[in-house]
Amino acid sequence: MTAHREALQEALRRHAEEWRVRRVDASFAESPERHARLSRQAAELTLDFSKNRLDEAVLDLLIALADSAGLRERIDAMFAGQPINTTEERAVLHTALRARDLGGLRVAGKEVASSIAAVKARMRALVEALHRGEWRGFDGQPVTDVVNLGIGGSDLGPRMACTALRDDAAAQVRLHFVSNVDGGDIAHVLHGLDPARTAFIVASKSFTTSETMRNAVTAQAWLARACPHPGLQAGHFLGITACPDRAREFGINESHILPLWDWVGGRFSLWSAIGLPIAMSVGMNKFEDMLAGAEEMDQHFRSTPWHDNLPVLLALVGIWNSNFLGAETFAVVPYDERLAQLPAYLQQLEMESNGKRVTHHTPAVTGHTAPILWGGLGTNVQHAFFQLLHQGTRLVPVDFILALRNPLSPPGHHDMLVANCLAQAQALMQGRTAESLEDATSSKASGSLSVHRTTPGNQPSSLLLMEALTPRALGALIALYEHKTFVQGVIWGINSFDQWGVELGKVLADALLQDMQTNAVAPQHDPSTAAALRLYLARRGDR
Ligand code: F6P
Repeated sequence: MTAHREALQEALRRHAEEWRVRRVDASFAESPERHARLSRQAAELTLDFSKNRLDEAVLDLLIALADSAGLRERIDAMFAGQPINTTEERAVLHTALRARDLGGLRVAGKEVASSIAAVKARMRALVEALHRGEWRGFDGQPVTDVVNLGIGGSDLGPRMACTALRDDAAAQVRLHFVSNVDGGDIAHVLHGLDPARTAFIVASKSFTTSETMRNAVTAQAWLARACPHPGLQAGHFLGITACPDRAREFGINESHILPLWDWVGGRFSLWSAIGLPIAMSVGMNKFEDMLAGAEEMDQHFRSTPWHDNLPVLLALVGIWNSNFLGAETFAVVPYDERLAQLPAYLQQLEMESNGKRVTHHTPAVTGHTAPILWGGLGTNVQHAFFQLLHQGTRLVPVDFILALRNPLSPPGHHDMLVANCLAQAQALMQGRTAESLEDATSSKASGSLSVHRTTPGNQPSSLLLMEALTPRALGALIALYEHKTFVQGVIWGINSFDQWGVELGKVLADALLQDMQTNAVAPQHDPSTAAALRLYLARRGDR
């Protein structure tokens, strides 16, 4: 680490000592314009980070830290298609999928814009055929139900966006998602579906992911029971993959295979053909609106000074909270039912990207990288885990997310929803002293009970506001978190675009599966695993 960087970190640690005790509500009292100074607006979104334990002096140091990590160069390298995913020697160009003008960008000698446009045109044709009832099943009836078979990035993004945009969904088609290899998942989804009107998307960048391939085989078998003719069965399957040979081998027709490219990471792939379920649900135009919202955020991210740059600010606030104030987790709490899947989506985005311990230059990072991301829906979580935020012993920063308008919300609801969201952020900041207890004069309140009823406050939170949850705003919101994740990875000095950590579990699961096939327990297992396997083999019954 350079002396300059070390000095910045030392200065930040000194500020953190101060902010461990300094109160945000007191800062507001001293300086009511704090809110205006620590709020920014861009691309459909407003970020108010004024309830975090920081001030401009801290922000300046964090910005200097980002500069010392070469943030400007890293951003330019990403957008230019340089192989910044160094361990896999790949470019990182999910931003190209939503760019209107790529200026002749080429990767490995190949022009990017025309291949993206060609895939989008095929997506549009498929979506329009589906919506017009022209995609027909084996007995000539129109397809009405489409089941996406995928996992991780081939599931979470499309699933999250379809839920978020459910009010925009076309009436003539229903989208379903199966990700888990737990057979209960696919059995539950297929129950009640009509094979003659059901189509499947096998979504897998690698087309080898075992959960997805198992589900695809089960789907084929389910269809074959209703339609024994293999030629007609194939018409019910689409494949989306960077490995089209494998999709062909699986039996998917050439005209039903949509490609993606190795420069689109799985958890960044909802903008590619992996987003087909979104387009099928809301139509291609609204899918393009989502891309446009993301592009607006991309432009903002590329061209705005760090002080006003939403993804950079969100990233810096996160680094401050976890690396300097010591928060081990952070919670994402949308006050919007339609964003129910957002925390799960962000878990993959942030934790698969930045849950790393090796830097570009050294065998180990010195501090912590990605905090544990968790969350849930307001107001529900107020009646579940918020108690811990208000009175627990840990520092847990929260991102609150809220749409100002929801036209489909019945009268009276939205006011209550918004009041609750704002109240929670306020309560987390202010806390509640013994003196402020309403019944402080009563003997019980002033006595032993008051200590149970007070809350310390000073829990940091940020508020992300949008006018309404439109496709465009959703695109901007997702791109915001994508770039936030990238910026944090740059500051930690790690490669946010590989995921080698997930390999070992897959290898060990394969070895265990082999044992299950031969009904034997191989000697390499540890005693605990071997005992569980033996018990399973003894009890598993018919499969
Ligand atoms: O969990 C590992 C991972 O490779 C993710 O990065 C990816 O999104 C997921 O598996 C699914 O991969 P694929 O799209 O190749 O099936």
